[in-house]
Amino acid sequence: MIKAPASAPGKFILAGEHSIVYRGRAIALPLLNTELKYWETDEAPALFVNGEKKETFHYQKVCALREHLGFKDGGPTLHIETQIPLGGGLGSSAALCTALGRYHAAHLSPEQLARLALEGEKFFHAKSSGIDPFTIAIGKAIVFRSQTLEWKELDLQRFHDEGLTFVLADSGLRHKTPEVLERVSHLKAQDPLIFEDLIDALSTNVEGMLKALAEGPRKMLGRLMNDSHFRLIQLGVSEERLDDLQAKLLKLGALGAKLTGAGRGGFILSLFEQETFASLKAQFPVPYLEWKRC
Ligand code: MEV
Repeated sequence: MIKAPASAPGKFILAGEHSIVYRGRAIALPLLNTELKYWETDEAPALFVNGEKKETFHYQKVCALREHLGFKDGGPTLHIETQIPLGGGLGSSAALCTALGRYHAAHLSPEQLARLALEGEKFFHAKSSGIDPFTIAIGKAIVFRSQTLEWKELDLQRFHDEGLTFVLADSGLRHKTPEVLERVSHLKAQDPLIFEDLIDALSTNVEGMLKALAEGPRKMLGRLMNDSHFRLIQLGVSEERLDDLQAKLLKLGALGAKLTGAGRGGFILSLFEQETFASLKAQFPVPYLEWKRC
């Protein structure tokens, strides 16, 4: 019997990337207008991504991931169709773990699937906090704590009432999350005081953003996003191209902008008034994704 593909969305982190690996919470939202689909067929052993046959070691890696997740009996031909760019900070590896889990274990609850996908994420990088797999498997805007795996759905009514939207602008650069995490651990070892201060500031911004979302996002959210971007620069996870893009978006009228996800590439997350963004869509300087409300 041929099983239907299983799918999972991308995600973006509003606040708390990197700091959540050490302490505190993070806020993330699913990107429901992006999707990764996974399925298996009974042809020759191979991995196809968006219809293109990949090198054997990629195939072996996905087979190893499948086995790591406890799925021993699968079809030999693996297929991934994805709109989530690899290394763009939008959760491509967590989306793969989630879709693979959903394909083989459709009976799992969102929470069980999230825990399974987290095991898969750890296969890619041991330090995964869980924010990506939980956001993607649960499919809701959440605030999450890694130490306890506790999550709470966010109420975005004020955000919508104030006519705001998020826009993700693509820097075109791509990263490898484990390498970026390694870079942050170096700073921790070399400059512990600065490191601890930055982690505190990033975690405090998460709590500030939660308050802003509840009480009036227009006032504080953008400022806290900008502040987080500058802390992430000091943490060593930005790039000149990301900083230039962040500045450009603010000039265009964004209320705030920051890198999102591991950094060293990927997207700049910006906060816009829907009306402002609608008026400048045609002249937007780089490829972008507008967040679809959830
Ligand atoms: C990656 O999307 C976010 C990081 O904080 C890593 C993690 O939390 O697993 C950099």
